Amino acid sequence: MDILKNSVGRKLVMAVTGFGMIAFVIAHLLGNTTLYSGPDGINAYAGALHSCGVFLWTFRLTMAVMLSLHVFFGIQLTLENRAARPQAYTVTNYRASTFAGRNMIWTGLLIGVFLLYHLLQFTLQVTDPEIAAVRHPDALGRPDVFTMVALSFRKAAVAAVYVCAMAALGLHLGHSIQSSLQTLGLNSERTFPAITKGGIIAAILIALGFVSFPLVIYAGLLR
Ligand code: HEM
Repeated sequence: MDILKNSVGRKLVMAVTGFGMIAFVIAHLLGNTTLYSGPDGINAYAGALHSCGVFLWTFRLTMAVMLSLHVFFGIQLTLENRAARPQAYTVTNYRASTFAGRNMIWTGLLIGVFLLYHLLQFTLQVTDPEIAAVRHPDALGRPDVFTMVALSFRKAAVAAVYVCAMAALGLHLGHSIQSSLQTLGLNSERTFPAITKGGIIAAILIALGFVSFPLVIYAGLLR
């Protein structure tokens, strides 16, 4: 496809797939807030999701395709940019770039590694079989997702992994919301400061929302 032969086309694919995944992340964060209603909240929510059958699998397939395209073109664009600029600048222009922007590849790869662990932990439930929700139904016979998540986040190491991963997610989104709007042509010289600030605030809220679960549970405030 011609559009993928130039870096603008690939950046466009990065922006569109990135937005699709941001929509998922926001929906997932809102869904996870059912944890705060206790076992009845999240166990009912997880049960409802699993009853979606073919829609759930269509959604999972779409997400997997979006993630693969995003990772593939992200690595390719980074390698191309580095090859075009083989020697590090003697003086780096930190006014034009930000820490989050310069480290997109690393925060992205960290999120990828986290996602692998997260799916093994809560979707496939193989990292901690003794607390797997599928093996331990609640009083109503539903997989006890609440107890699985709560017992996981009571472990300091697991809570710490989530805090670090959510910091990477916050940094990644902090740059990418503004940058993808720019790629899609929705950002102009006039709107740039407001969109940049809005993107950073949204990223901080999303990261804080996710990080609240391990922190609140580890602190013993939700059991
Ligand atoms: C503290 C934060 C989080 C909690 C408590 C959490 C919780 C969960 C749980 C319980 C499941 C399994 C749902 C089920 O099948 O019953 C799940 C699945 C998933 N989570 Fe998370 N999650 C968190 C953060 C994230 C983040 C930041 C991402 C993305 C970057 C993410 C991506 C996913 C994906 C892709 C799935 C698989 C969905 C599916 O089954 O199709 N999660 N999460």
